[in-house]
Amino acid sequence: MRKMTVLFVVSFFICLPVLAKGKTTTWEGPNLGPMATRIKQDQITRETLSFKKIQQAGKVIFTTPFNKHDGYGDGIFDPEGESPRDFGNRPTLQGNGTFLRVNGLDAQTCLECHFILKNSTIPAKFGIGGVAGANANAVFMPTLIDVAEENPGEINGRFINPPFLFGSGGVELLAKEMTADLQKLKEEARDNPGTSIELTTKGIRFGRIYYDNEGIIDTTGVEGIDDDLVVRPFGRKGEFATVRGFDVLAMQFHFGMQTVEDVGEDVDADGDRVFNEILVGEISALHIFNTTLDRPIIEKHGNAEKEGFQIFKQIGCALCHRPVLHTKSRVLTYSFPEIETDPGANVFYWVDLTKRTNFRRNRQGGIIVPLFSDLKRHDLGSAMAESFDIPDEPTNREFITARLWGIRDTAPYMHDGRAQTITEAVRMHGEEAEPVRTNFDNLNDDDEDRVLAFLYSLCAPKLSER
Ligand code: HEC
Ligand code: HEC
Repeated sequence: MRKMTVLFVVSFFICLPVLAKGKTTTWEGPNLGPMATRIKQDQITRETLSFKKIQQAGKVIFTTPFNKHDGYGDGIFDPEGESPRDFGNRPTLQGNGTFLRVNGLDAQTCLECHFILKNSTIPAKFGIGGVAGANANAVFMPTLIDVAEENPGEINGRFINPPFLFGSGGVELLAKEMTADLQKLKEEARDNPGTSIELTTKGIRFGRIYYDNEGIIDTTGVEGIDDDLVVRPFGRKGEFATVRGFDVLAMQFHFGMQTVEDVGEDVDADGDRVFNEILVGEISALHIFNTTLDRPIIEKHGNAEKEGFQIFKQIGCALCHRPVLHTKSRVLTYSFPEIETDPGANVFYWVDLTKRTNFRRNRQGGIIVPLFSDLKRHDLGSAMAESFDIPDEPTNREFITARLWGIRDTAPYMHDGRAQTITEAVRMHGEEAEPVRTNFDNLNDDDEDRVLAFLYSLCAPKLSER
């Protein structure tokens, strides 16, 4: 009898924190499982887990539908908050704390918006890390959505179609090498005041910088990236240097899942009585999983595709959609905490992309990245512009050159999915791309068909288990 009482008292105290955030039963609790079973950063840094186990843990995070036991949501709503766009002040439908769909709280799992491998077959083929149709578009920070009243049909903010994550390891590696090069050029400029330095890396020119004799930097000549000379390939506007950076924000934005690296350890920043909603180790595993997905592939070219590729280059598409970029290394490093201007800092893990993905080696010991992009932002003209009122946003008309690999399988096209076919997407290119688009418009039907034959050879990966 005494034993039973002790057991009861002990289990009561163990249950107390759980009861506080809502009843958990044998059937319902956090979908991430008990804390003891969750992946910790030191299991990755001390290499007590195999690569496969880490990758598997990342896949679990990517596919878990988070619920309130996991910490889903922004916590207590603060109607007095400074802005309804801020986490914690975001309104939800009927004030029930789950969804609004606009500016976040729009899904329960990453998979909801990244699940289609191929859209070119009917029915579509599914694949973890893929794209989705316009129904999965994120509606980011609008101030006005008015379908029926004073401004019919008007919407502002950003309407964005989810891209796939395939091949993102190669893209991140490229960007890190380019950033390291540009930071060196910045040092060179600082050491040579009065001399204008060209910012060229991997054959891509990002303008130039200049230090005056007082040591003040002039960045007015920088093109297509931010003034800190960090290449940010992720996000349709090129705003994130690494997948990790993106993932942390995605957790908060879509689900109100707060990461330890954002809010601190044992901190309940949203007051929902769930602590450590997403651990540092979980974001590391997610980052590793996302960046070891296979890259898209190119189908074997017949004559039409070969000729189409030549025309694609001749008319100038390849000026922005660079067919191939090369890395010096084949090893992608993972850092925590990340320092964007110094991608080599705080490395805790690394992966050889030629061993863990289908990236192929080049002759310099790096990898070949057939991405069809220059990782630069370009102005595509006012017809493509977003109306967006965040002061430090890059120009509303600028987007990073879309990577065309896999394009056969990823309709709809352009950042918001406004183009349902590839031809439609090409015809929407304005401003900086105007002369090249005119060249495309002037092609005869046969040549236009050849360019399309070539573009339709760029396919999603096979996603075979390796
Ligand atoms: C409601 C739909 C939605 C959900 C849920 C979602 N995403 Fe996305 N994802 C998007 C959209 C839209 C973009 C493009 C965003 C942009 O351009 O800023 C994107 C872009 C990305 C990118 C950058 C890809 C690139 O090449 O630029 C990564 C990485 C990513 N998502 C990972 C995740 C992860 C991890 C989760 C879960 C934590 C997640 N996403 C959940 C819609 C979603
Ligand atoms: C000045 C640079 C530039 C040139 C030249 C250019 N593009 Fe683009 N292209 C872009 C940018 C930037 C985007 C992304 C637009 C967006 O996100 O809305 C894009 C998007 C696309 C897309 C849609 C991709 C997707 O996944 O949604 C296709 C297809 C495309 N370009 C094909 C072409 C072809 C074919 C040519 C040559 C006729 C060409 N582009 C020339 C910059 C360029």
